[in-house]
Amino acid sequence: MDFQKELDYRATEVDRILVRELPKVEGYQANLFDAMRYSVLVGGKRLRPILMQETFKLFGGHSEAIEPFMAAIEMIHSYSLVHDDLPAMDNDMLRRGNPTTHAKYGEGLGILAGDALLNYGFEVALRAFDRAPEDKDRIIKSLKILADKAGAFGMVGGQVVDIEESRQNGISLNRLNFLYSKKTAALIEAAMMIGAVLAGADDQHVKTIEEVAHKIGLAFQIRDDVLDAIGDEETLGKEVGQDARNQKVTYLSFVGLDRAKEEVNRLSDEGITTLLSLPYENRFLTKLLEFLVHREK
Ligand code: IPE
Ligand code: IPE
Ligand code: MG
Ligand code: MG
Ligand code: MG
Repeated sequence: MDFQKELDYRATEVDRILVRELPKVEGYQANLFDAMRYSVLVGGKRLRPILMQETFKLFGGHSEAIEPFMAAIEMIHSYSLVHDDLPAMDNDMLRRGNPTTHAKYGEGLGILAGDALLNYGFEVALRAFDRAPEDKDRIIKSLKILADKAGAFGMVGGQVVDIEESRQNGISLNRLNFLYSKKTAALIEAAMMIGAVLAGADDQHVKTIEEVAHKIGLAFQIRDDVLDAIGDEETLGKEVGQDARNQKVTYLSFVGLDRAKEEVNRLSDEGITTLLSLPYENRFLTKLLEFLVHREK
């Protein structure tokens, strides 16, 4: 099977888990459930759950705990996108090839569907205790990682600097690195670290995986900025040129397009080299990390 087919197959498997774990559209809050399902199911590459699962396989994982966490990370990531698109943040109308959640359901439901997805992500992750009670300690460790990387010390912390940054002139490269490390790398770190933890990797190896994911996460965001500048709206499924419209300072405004592309390559190579230093191998995972550098969506 070629790489793209294997990737599509994995994404379909993630979809199957998400469809199963999301709430049914019923009851007085049916519109909320509908908006939650829409936000998660309307599209998306499913990279974080796939990275989680492949890191789990890298360490030879066997545990029923993995699927609830795969669903949880995608729900939390989807919430971050719903809020990121709100008028008070990036004010975007297109996401995953469809109207953004607030554009379709209104701003109130946009906010609440985001809140609900964040909380529901943890509700789903907690199901791991029922699925794999024997893995209790690993599940607790994974929950701590998820909570830390999603919150004020993780993704939300980065998003705050992101919205403040656009109002500032002369952001430093250090501040920009902080912002990318948190807003984007943190959830990718969570995905890969949880895969390792649930498979029973030791602390040193989890630390190595965090370093790999950190580099890949930075490269991923710089590539996102590149695509915002030169990508195709149809392929991307989101509006292009938004960073310029929102007067965002990105890697591109700092170093220009060519050096930004070089930086994506450099960070990605470093991440892959670190991954390959481990005494385990998952060739699909290595290929996936290589593929992310050149992604067009
Ligand atoms: C978009 O993430 C937001 C960033 C962190 C750059 P993805 O590019 O993974 O978006 P989806 O999940 O495929 O829609
Ligand atoms: C996204 O950064 C980071 C998140 C935590 C959602 P962007 O604002 O660049 O992501 P896109 O381009 O809207 O997907
Ligand atoms: Mg943003
Ligand atoms: Mg945005
Ligand atoms: Mg972007």
